Amino acid sequence: MRPFIERLPKAELHVHLEGTLEPELSFELARKNGITLPFDTPEALVEAYDFHDLPSFLTIYYAGMSVLVDEDDFYRLTWDYLAKAASQNIVYAELFFDPQAHTARGVAFETVITGIRRAQQDAAQRLGVETQLILCFLRDMSAESAMEHLEMARPYLDWLVGVGLDSDEKDNPPTKFAAVFARAREMGLKLTMHCDVNQTDTLANIGQVLDDIGVDRIDHGVNSLQSDALWQEIARRRLGLTVCPVSNRFVVQSLTSAEIRDMLDKDMLVTINSDDPAYFRAYLNENFVALQEEGGFTADEIVTLVANGFEAAWLPDARKSEYRDLLDKAAAGRVDA
Ligand code: ADE
Ligand code: ZN
Repeated sequence: MRPFIERLPKAELHVHLEGTLEPELSFELARKNGITLPFDTPEALVEAYDFHDLPSFLTIYYAGMSVLVDEDDFYRLTWDYLAKAASQNIVYAELFFDPQAHTARGVAFETVITGIRRAQQDAAQRLGVETQLILCFLRDMSAESAMEHLEMARPYLDWLVGVGLDSDEKDNPPTKFAAVFARAREMGLKLTMHCDVNQTDTLANIGQVLDDIGVDRIDHGVNSLQSDALWQEIARRRLGLTVCPVSNRFVVQSLTSAEIRDMLDKDMLVTINSDDPAYFRAYLNENFVALQEEGGFTADEIVTLVANGFEAAWLPDARKSEYRDLLDKAAAGRVDA
């Protein structure tokens, strides 16, 4: 199945750009920016990755960002991910970024978004990878800070497709950001929010993203299966769920293959994604391969999961159809996409 998975043209809808920062690039940027890392080698840095829940991951993830300082650093981060994406036959990606994690360190919003944007344009031209950008708010910061950053983004609205919500979910429910997301909607942006796996109050939070926020998609959302009312509503609205198997394994010791199969059986729009691939040491193909092995998915089921990625994308229907045709041809072995 690995060669089959590798050759399929794929979409990635849940990847944090800051989560694509490879240890080697950390060291290179640290040297360039005169920053001393508390590790001697990239290998030693990887050995310190000890994730067992969301907070233990987030501590290491935010510390890692200190090496991202100027526009070229954000360009390089984005370019390196997109080159990797192209090598995995990812033809379309929606990219999360966390501006508050940078402005809090004194890096200007403009520096961050301009570097990312340049790499997106170069990747479209030179690698043939189409991308759109999603601004994520950090839910453990205040709603006022989120609103300020939404306003900072106003001059760059054409560069954004949507807004998201990430970071530590505990005691930071979706409704804390209701006004911010309502304004983002008025600005013409799509809405998504993380409902990470097995969080405190997860069912209440999933209910809020549906009823109070009115999201266009849900990031993770696996626990919705525990409530008939929730999963039925998600299926009825045909809301995409961006599930991240390897990321989940750090929290629930499984790739949630049983849950993903259950979602397929319930005709839910479940998609497969990598989340923070440099930290979890698995890009999109590795997520699909591991998931297939754990869950015994058939080739047709893999194609459905990939097709769901294009269907759940924030693209015009005509563009989605083009990608679907490309996928069907590659799945049938007619073209090497
Ligand atoms: N930031 C980066 N990855 C995240 C995740 N999976 N959940 C919440 N915040 C994140
Ligand atoms: Zn995520």
